[in-house]
Amino acid sequence: MRDEKQLKAIASKMVLKGKGILAADESTPTCTKRFDSISVESTFENRNKYRNMLFTSSNIEKYISGVILFDETFKQSTTCKNKIPFVEYLNSRGIIPGIKVDGGTQDLAGFPDEKITDGLDGLKKRLEEYYNMGARFAKWRAVITIGDDIPSDACIYSNAHGLARYAALCQNANIVPIVEPEVLMNGSHTIETCYEISKRTLNVVFEQLILNRVMLEGIVLKPNMIISGLDCDNQADIDKVADMTYRCLKENVPSEVAGIAFLSGGQSSDLATAHLQKMNEKYQDEMPWNLTFSYGRALQHDALNSWKGSNVSGGQEAFLLRANANSLATKGIAV
Ligand code: 13P
Repeated sequence: MRDEKQLKAIASKMVLKGKGILAADESTPTCTKRFDSISVESTFENRNKYRNMLFTSSNIEKYISGVILFDETFKQSTTCKNKIPFVEYLNSRGIIPGIKVDGGTQDLAGFPDEKITDGLDGLKKRLEEYYNMGARFAKWRAVITIGDDIPSDACIYSNAHGLARYAALCQNANIVPIVEPEVLMNGSHTIETCYEISKRTLNVVFEQLILNRVMLEGIVLKPNMIISGLDCDNQADIDKVADMTYRCLKENVPSEVAGIAFLSGGQSSDLATAHLQKMNEKYQDEMPWNLTFSYGRALQHDALNSWKGSNVSGGQEAFLLRANANSLATKGIAV
């Protein structure tokens, strides 16, 4: 039976003011792509060393409330002599260990250029196993693509249903679900189109969550920001992104939701920080939830490029600078 008190407590801890979530759950192929960009071979050992560099940064717990792990990392340990399992290590520093449980995306049958997220089969058992191994939250990413005549209703409904079934299973296993409906920034669409599609998506996601009896106080929503498509000629400025993202969330996300932690989605690290900072500066007193970060690329880019396979102190320094800037951004403070 789900323990609602525990779920609420964990969800609130994940989005505490001043802290955010580190998404370090790149699958092996995605991690290989990141390592290719710095010419480091993507071996089991190198992936272990890289994650170890991030997690053992000093004072990381001042900025990071939880870390999302990929299955491989979830079972790895620190690289120091006494090899502490990462889950135990993170717990000892007051950081909540989380696990990516979706199986990635597949083509949505009958709908060219649209995707559906895999992973519901066997999920109940996997969640029980992860709970017993120490996971207290999970992540499932659904992807919505904007293009000519897409997204279709079928894509939005199928993905929203998947998210809701996942979230219900998580809560039954006493794991807080991060619900991530990502409207991609790829394309030449305007910020207004991003707003409309994100609004439609959020509405269907919450309809499905409620239909499936998901307790909204025990989830963390991980949405995209409302931004111009990457190839749009007219790029909205920071104020407009802050205003439209705030409006979209305020009007379409129920106030019961424990908190909101954005994905970065391919924005530069600086912009992802600036957008979060501006939203909190302007609107933090008018929102029922804390607005924080659950960035992957925008938290790791500087660190990855300084580390380059061996420079541990340089990587950690870059990581902490960025984590601190995002932590301040959750309070509306610019560095
Ligand atoms: P990005 O911040 O790089 O978009 O990654 C966040 C994430 O967890 C995607 O699922």
